[in-house]
Amino acid sequence: MSEQSRPPRKPGKPYRRPQKDPVRLLAFEALRAVDERDAYANLVLPPLLRKAREKEGPDAFDARDAALATELVYGTLRRQGTYDAVIAECVDRPLREVDPPVLDVLSLGAHQLLGTRIPTHAAVSASVDLARVVLGDGRAKFVNAVLRKIAQHDLDGWLERVAPPYDEDPEDHLAVVHSHPRWVVSALWDSLGGGRAGIEDLLEADNERPEVTLVARPGRATTEELLREDSAMPGRWSPYAVRLTEGGEPGAVDAVREGRAGVQDEGSQLVALALANAPLDGPDRAWLDGCAGPGGKAALLAALAAGRGAVLLASEKQPHRAGLVAKALHGNPGPYQVIAADGTRPPWRPGSFDRVLMDVPCTGLGALRRRPEARWRRRPDDLENFAPLQRALLRTALESVRVGGVVGYATCSPHLAETRAVVADVLKQYGDAADLIDARPMLEGVPALGEGPDIQLWPHLHGTDAMYLALIRRTA
Ligand SMILES: C[S@@+](CC[C@H](N)C(=O)[O-])C[C@H]1O[C@@H](n2cnc3c(N)ncnc32)[C@H](O)[C@@H]1O
Repeated sequence: MSEQSRPPRKPGKPYRRPQKDPVRLLAFEALRAVDERDAYANLVLPPLLRKAREKEGPDAFDARDAALATELVYGTLRRQGTYDAVIAECVDRPLREVDPPVLDVLSLGAHQLLGTRIPTHAAVSASVDLARVVLGDGRAKFVNAVLRKIAQHDLDGWLERVAPPYDEDPEDHLAVVHSHPRWVVSALWDSLGGGRAGIEDLLEADNERPEVTLVARPGRATTEELLREDSAMPGRWSPYAVRLTEGGEPGAVDAVREGRAGVQDEGSQLVALALANAPLDGPDRAWLDGCAGPGGKAALLAALAAGRGAVLLASEKQPHRAGLVAKALHGNPGPYQVIAADGTRPPWRPGSFDRVLMDVPCTGLGALRRRPEARWRRRPDDLENFAPLQRALLRTALESVRVGGVVGYATCSPHLAETRAVVADVLKQYGDAADLIDARPMLEGVPALGEGPDIQLWPHLHGTDAMYLALIRRTA
C-alpha cells in the first residue's frame, strides 16, 4: 500500500502509562482472594498491608493509605449487593457472564463513586488505571464505559432506579438498599419484629465498622488502666469494657499484649456476665464452657470464677482452637483446665457442674459487621447443617449441670431457627426437669433486651453483635 492510499490516521490520544496505585492494587488483590479462595477479608488484609508497607516503604504507603485500602475492601464487600444491582443496569449481559476479576474492578470503582467522597474523575481514572494493569487495555475500555454510566447518578439516584418500591416488595427493597441477601433480611426481621424503621436501622448498623472493644479481665487488669489509652471510652454496658473509639491498635496496648485484657465485643462480655450473675442455691464451684474456642468468653468466665473460688473447665472440639483457649486463659488468677473434647460425647461426669455455657457453632448472622463477606457466603441450608449439633450440644449442657445449676445457651446469630427453636425443641424433651429463667435481670441497666425470658442483643440498639442467650435451670 502506498503512503497516499492509507486512510487518514485518527488523531489518537497520546499513550499514557497506567499509574500503579498500591492502594487500589492491594484492594483488588484482597477482593480476588476473598472471591477465588473463599478467604476472609479480616485475615487476608493484614499480611497484604504489611507486604505493601515493606515494598513501597513507609512514606509511599503510610497509615492513611492502609486505612483507605481497608475501607475500599470492607466497603466494597459490604455493599456488594447494592453495587451488583447498579452494575447490572450498566452492562449488556448478565453479571454471571462478566469475568470475576472485571467485576471486582467494577465493584471497587462503584464503591469509590457511590460510597466514598473520592471525586468522580479520580474514582474513574484510578479504576481504569487499575484495569489496565490487572486486566489489560481492552477490558480497561469496558471498565471505563461502565463506570462512566455509573457516574451519571449518585447512590440515592441509583437506588431509586434499581430497588423495587418498598410498598411492592419490602424485603427485596431492603435487600437492595441495605445490601443484604433477601433471606437474611427476612430472618433478621422475623427475629427483630416491628416495622420498617427498626429493620432499616439494624441493616445499616451491619454496614458500619464496629468499634474495637477491650475487656479488662477481672483480677488481672482494670478499666482505669485501659482508659489511659488514646481515644478510649468506657463501655456502654459491661463494667469490664473499654471502647477504642478511633479504631485503635489493640496490639499496642500493654495489658492486651500481656493477656490481662483482650479484644471482645461487649455482647460477648454480657453473655458471660449474665451466666455468672444467675442466682444459684448451693455450691458454686465448678463451671464449664463446652464450646470454648477461641476462648474470649472462657477467659472472662475463668477470671470471674477465680474471684469466687470456682474452677472453669474450658472444652473445645478442635485441638488447635483448644490451643487458642489455653493461650487466652494463661495467667488466669485461679485454677482452670483446658481440654480438647467433642461436646456431643463429653468425657466428664453428668451433673458435675454448677454453671455451664454452651456457645454453639452457628451461622454468625449476628456478627455481620465484622465479616463483610459472610452475608454472601452463608446459605439457608447452613441452618439445617447446624441444627442437630446445636440441639445435641444443648442436651449435653443440660446433662452436665447439677440439679439447681444453670445453663447458658448462646449464639452469635439472632436467627430464630438457631435460638428459640433449638431451646424450645430441647426443653420439650426435658418436661419438668428444666426451666427457662428470666435472663434480663442478670444484666441490670441494659435496655431493650426483648420480651424475655431470653435475651437478644442488637447492633443498632446496643452497639454489640446480635448475641442471643437463654438461661435454663435444671430443676430435676
Ligand atoms: C461460637 S464458637 C465459640 C466461641 C467462644 N465461646 C468464644 O467466646 O471465644 C463455637 C466453638 O464450638 C466449637 N465446636 C464445634 N463443634 C463442637 C463440638 N461438637 N464440641 C465442642 N466444641 C465444638 C467450634 O470449633 C468453635 O470453636
